[in-house]
Amino acid sequence: MARVFITGSSDGLGLMAGRLLASQGHAVVLHARNPGRAEDTRAALSQSELAQVAGVVTGDLAGLAGMRQVAEQANAAGPFDAVIHNAGVGHRDQPRRVATEDGFSRVFAVNVLAPYLLTALMKRPRRLVYLSSGLHRDAEASLADAQWERRRWDGFGAYSDSKLLDVVLTFAVARRWLDVRCNGVEPGWVPTKMGGPTAPDDLSLAPVTQAWLAVSDDDAAAGTGGYFFHQQPQQVHPAARDVAFQDELLAYCARLSGTELPS
Ligand SMILES: NC(=O)c1ccc[n+]([C@@H]2O[C@H](COP(=O)([O-])OP(=O)(O)OC[C@H]3O[C@@H](n4cnc5c(N)ncnc54)[C@H](OP(=O)(O)O)[C@@H]3O)[C@@H](O)[C@H]2O)c1
Repeated sequence: MARVFITGSSDGLGLMAGRLLASQGHAVVLHARNPGRAEDTRAALSQSELAQVAGVVTGDLAGLAGMRQVAEQANAAGPFDAVIHNAGVGHRDQPRRVATEDGFSRVFAVNVLAPYLLTALMKRPRRLVYLSSGLHRDAEASLADAQWERRRWDGFGAYSDSKLLDVVLTFAVARRWLDVRCNGVEPGWVPTKMGGPTAPDDLSLAPVTQAWLAVSDDDAAAGTGGYFFHQQPQQVHPAARDVAFQDELLAYCARLSGTELPS
């Protein structure tokens, strides 16, 4: 049985993936933005699910200090066989650019910088899974205004850009860390808090692929540098395979966070 850490698992697909893995007998460590949300998370689980929960890490992933707190607690609760970088903010709750305490765009901080910094600071698991979105294919492949300081704000565009950068991060880490199986996922457009009530895709299928990539010994799940929807490989935005763009993203995140990705 595996030990799996899932960010943003107080709700939505992170919580669903946690329940799924718990029901399969795996030990899960969950994550909530603060102690109140951690209580909500525990309250949402059945007794048998709770028995598989080895802890709930807390911390707000919008700020560098919170990201570091989460990494520290997660390292104390580890080591992990797999980490699922799931936490994210969507475009619905970003009608304007929101700046974090560090001055970054919140969408970028939570969706891109947090998975980067947690990856860099946490003891290396056997498997890494990053949540992206089909919207990544509509993104602008550039870091020239990654913080949306010069462009007119477009929450949908900022979200899509962040999800492309998640795929770039996935492939960058897969290329650098040959001892880790590192894959990306798009779960479909489903009716979570982020997806909204009219989302058309099947919610019950949406947490399956990330859980499968985290623990399955199927040949397809045991590779690295892949990108999946419903357990099937998918085409990605061509910029995601661009090695120079991958290195540019790692260098940019290292500069913003003050932490290099270990070699
Ligand atoms: N739903 C979709 O249609 C869809 C489609 C494509 C991709 N995805 C991706 O799937 C992942 C999960 O999305 P979801 O639909 O499950 O979203 P969700 O229901 O809104 O859940 C997001 C999770 O992230 C947490 N989170 C957000 N900001 C945080 C912060 N600053 N610090 C700590 N935790 C934070 C939330 O905590 P709170 O509960 O406290 O807010 C929640 O646990 C995301 O990466 C998303 O981009 C979703």
